[in-house]
Amino acid sequence: MAARTIRLASTGIWLPAKVLTNADLEQMVDTSNEWILERTGIRERRIAGDEVGVAQMGCYAAQNALEEAGLAPSDVDALIVSTATPDRLLPATACDVQAMLGADRAVAFDVGGACSGWLYALSVAHGLIAAGQIETALCVAPEKMSAITDWRDRATCVLFGDAAGAAVVVPSEEEGRGVLASYMRSDGTLAELLYRPPASTEVPVDVAEIVMRDGYIRMAGREVFKAAVRSMCEAVDAVLEQAGISKDEVDLLIPHQANIRIIEATAKYAGVPLERVWVNVDRYGNTSSASVPVSLHEAREAGLIRDGSLILMVTFGAGFTWAAMLLRW
Ligand code: ACO
Repeated sequence: MAARTIRLASTGIWLPAKVLTNADLEQMVDTSNEWILERTGIRERRIAGDEVGVAQMGCYAAQNALEEAGLAPSDVDALIVSTATPDRLLPATACDVQAMLGADRAVAFDVGGACSGWLYALSVAHGLIAAGQIETALCVAPEKMSAITDWRDRATCVLFGDAAGAAVVVPSEEEGRGVLASYMRSDGTLAELLYRPPASTEVPVDVAEIVMRDGYIRMAGREVFKAAVRSMCEAVDAVLEQAGISKDEVDLLIPHQANIRIIEATAKYAGVPLERVWVNVDRYGNTSSASVPVSLHEAREAGLIRDGSLILMVTFGAGFTWAAMLLRW
């Protein structure tokens, strides 16, 4: 008998109301709308203020997903959070989300896969469900990249934004539906190309200025760019081969939203025309692991995903980490 696979019963998102445009950034650092648009495709991003923490953002997205699934917080067996920007280092952000949500029956823990973290979380949920250990998982990706961004560094501050995404994960009852293949890889030898020195997002900015000046994200942009394209193409090939599915059968490609040029290169390699590629990097920038679940949710709302649609999700992030998942909705 084949191992149980999973499907997504629902999706949910939360986005901060505050919009930071390229014109706003022109007032903050030596940059221009033209440079940002041409190099990244980003026009604006959302910024969560001090009034909302990362766990709270996750809780909002989780509530949104539970509502669509028609489930109560106490129906959740496992609450798995992916975030690169925890409010605090201990306990796991998932435990804080659990308490806010009231998911009193769930085991709650984090997975650390940077931008690939939400696909890692889905894979962990898949494993737990396939093993018969749980029936219902909630995979949540709240990311407050603004809290770890050096707003004086034009090379990085134009790239990131804040958002949260979530999905309820349950066993797939129907043969050929749900997750058809998944692939995960990491290469820790390249960690120094994209990392954040130790610090907490709870430290107030003025203290961080003095004590933890080093606590912001650092990135070797060009190297990351090349590795992102290479790794995402590899992951695309791997899941298609695993599932025995050809490139032209893919109905919708949902790539990690870091840079429009990376998205276009991945789409070209995957043989998926741009009208079948979800793009929101122009509106949100790079929201780390929230980018794929937010995209999935928006693509559903836009009517691009119907019963039976074949969706290819692919990500790349710090670590390096990369992953892909092929899903028959
Ligand atoms: N405005 C104006 N000029 C800038 C800016 C800016 N915001 N940032 C850098 N520049 C300048 C540089 O100083 C440099 O000037 P110089 O030639 O006088 O030295 C010039 O622009 C070119 O800089 P590069 O860094 O070489 O520019 P590049 O074309 O590589 O684009 C970018 C930079 C957009 C960061 C690109 O490398 C990139 O997108 N990399 C991948 C980033 C990424 O995807 N990260 C996320 C993946 S992992 C994750 O999601 C966490």
